[in-house]
Amino acid sequence: MIANADIAKAMQIHLGTLFDELPPMPEFVKGIRRAPARQFNLSQKDTALSLKNALRYIPAEWHRALAPEFLEELMRRGRVYGYRFRPPGPIKGRPVDEYEGRCIEGKAFQVMIDNNLDFEVALYPYELVTYGETGQVCQNWMQYRLIRRYLEVLTREQTLVMASGHPVGLFASSPEAPRVIITNALMVGCFDDQENWHRAMALGVANYGQMTAGGWMYIGPQGIVHGTCSTLLNAGRAKLGIPADQDLAGRLFVTSGLGGMSGAQGKAVVIAGGVGIIAEVDYSRIQTRLDQGWIDQVADNPAEAFAAAADYQRQRRGRAIAFYGNVVDLLEYAVHHDAPIDLLSDQTSCHAVYEGGYCPQGINFERRTELLRSGHAGFKEMVDATLRRHYELIKILSDRGTYFFDYGNSFLKAVYDAGIRDICKNGENPLDGFIFQSYVEDIMGPILFDYGYGPFRWVCLSGRDEDLARTDRAAMQCIDPGRRFQDRDNYNWIRDAFKNRLVVGTQARILYQDALGRMKIALKFNDMVRTEEIGPVMLGRDHHDTGGTDSPFRETANIRDGSNIMADMATHCFAGNAARGMSLVALHNGGGVGIGKAVNGGFGLVLDGSERVDHVIRRAIPWDAMGGVARRAWARNEASIETCIHYNDLRAGSDHVTLPYLADEGLLEGLVAEAFKRMKENG
Ligand SMILES: NC(=O)c1ccc[n+]([C@@H]2O[C@H](COP(=O)([O-])OP(=O)(O)OC[C@H]3O[C@@H](n4cnc5c(N)ncnc54)[C@H](O)[C@@H]3O)[C@@H](O)[C@H]2O)c1
Repeated sequence: MIANADIAKAMQIHLGTLFDELPPMPEFVKGIRRAPARQFNLSQKDTALSLKNALRYIPAEWHRALAPEFLEELMRRGRVYGYRFRPPGPIKGRPVDEYEGRCIEGKAFQVMIDNNLDFEVALYPYELVTYGETGQVCQNWMQYRLIRRYLEVLTREQTLVMASGHPVGLFASSPEAPRVIITNALMVGCFDDQENWHRAMALGVANYGQMTAGGWMYIGPQGIVHGTCSTLLNAGRAKLGIPADQDLAGRLFVTSGLGGMSGAQGKAVVIAGGVGIIAEVDYSRIQTRLDQGWIDQVADNPAEAFAAAADYQRQRRGRAIAFYGNVVDLLEYAVHHDAPIDLLSDQTSCHAVYEGGYCPQGINFERRTELLRSGHAGFKEMVDATLRRHYELIKILSDRGTYFFDYGNSFLKAVYDAGIRDICKNGENPLDGFIFQSYVEDIMGPILFDYGYGPFRWVCLSGRDEDLARTDRAAMQCIDPGRRFQDRDNYNWIRDAFKNRLVVGTQARILYQDALGRMKIALKFNDMVRTEEIGPVMLGRDHHDTGGTDSPFRETANIRDGSNIMADMATHCFAGNAARGMSLVALHNGGGVGIGKAVNGGFGLVLDGSERVDHVIRRAIPWDAMGGVARRAWARNEASIETCIHYNDLRAGSDHVTLPYLADEGLLEGLVAEAFKRMKENG
């Protein structure tokens, strides 16, 4: 057997080089939310395997001390987090100059990682969960320590390889190559199911990156405020008959969830001019949003919530009201008291309903957490029964005129999994979609994604708020509000962004833009970095976008040529971004909807003011969005065809998109009907 001493000698970067002695267990700060214990159900053999896996990071002389500690973590919390290796005290994304590193990218990614783990930003910071109940930066603190060290020594001639949170190592590349390539949770097809997934997580070989958690690009709930605001405004215009130049004044939006992403709903509905009631079972999350000013008031019972909402609707004033309780209880009240609701949605973590993402009716949040810890046998049935009741209530409300939409949290799929077949358009399975639309099917898809509008974002790495204000003004100058109503919405958004106090954590901004709009803004920012008007900037986006994500229940829900079950686009987006020199590229299984249900990719690009980065912007930024528009055009989505016709003209000689000829549906219907008739006649 190879001696551990020889293995240690062969590595310059390992925990033994980072610590002179075993670090003490850090104190857990009171009041910081902790992840619920994930169910422990590994076999005896797999338990030993999981420990052996975790000890791979640990110098042999500490194995005796740490093996029992890791076993205790695994059996009590369902995972080995390696708490002992967490740096003591709060973690924050600091100004980039305060980080050690041999290249700006290496330092910049440390800012992003630390921001993802900030007490004010992360959902369960001690368990490295940034948002979405299970979305982690990496699996454990040993990985965090090693990643940080690798980023400190990374040069422009190397690429850091990250596989499900594990830093595989540094490999020679070139300044034009990505500095970091990340994959998370990619599973071999026939094992890509819940059972194998849970085993892999507990074994410490899989990380659920969600979207921007594992891609290190999370910017707090602001990241989703703009998308939520656009969704609500456009739902109002498309479904409630509100004119394109007006907002949601006097209208009521009811939903649930004030967590990582869902916490944006209160802010978004107020920016859109409407009134929101948002149910939340965990008071600590209500408190966080109250402290940030993203929620205006709390109601302890549904009657109080609806009465307050009606008052603000009459005054046509925007207001965000949190209802402390279960969303199903809130809807029971609405049904029994005929409370009118204009727009209805849900943003509980339904991508992980049985792991704590969805609280059953009849128990409070604390009891839910106890049941999860003890692995209560009836928990699944309680969740399923609540989902079924939730569905019944939505049906009643929608029959009365409420517009309900699935907001990308896999709610409809969760209801189907709870045994409701009627929720499927074909009454059997989700292949033809569900009877309620997902917000991408008829709002975000045709109105935004098909044109290439998506969640472009940036972080001012200096940490200075004046840099953010300068970038806001510069971005505003790049938008022509007269081109389309979408541009006018985006213009208004960025004009008011500073005033709306959206920043939580680092100085970051989200701004929906189309492919060439993103390029124009990126070039402008890089120029501002060059002239030292601002410090370096990290560009990125959410994976919830035109081109980066294949997700039939969400981002690609309005792809109707049968290719919605394919994941070629996201894979190409990832590979194409690597080929064009993005600083970071990421590809994940699961995204916001759950394992096996999506493949999604993201990027990060550090603007250092160089000409090299100008070239990357010109090549990579349009590709990142247009790959998605091209795919949507090929699926015959009209706005995408128009966008590609224009793009082929503008970029003639460099880019060229294949466009579909459109068949006459009448011709096909007749032809196919005739053929089927003959087939039937011939037996
Ligand atoms: N549409 C989008 O653009 C988008 C973007 C990101 C995430 N998502 C999805 O939205 C979901 C929520 O994301 P998140 O980051 O806010 O997750 P989260 O887990 O931080 O928040 C969900 C919240 O719902 C609350 N909750 C659970 N069951 C409840 C119930 N029955 N009644 C009332 N409150 C309840 C939880 O206490 C929690 O605070 C996830 O499934 C995520 O994948 C959607």
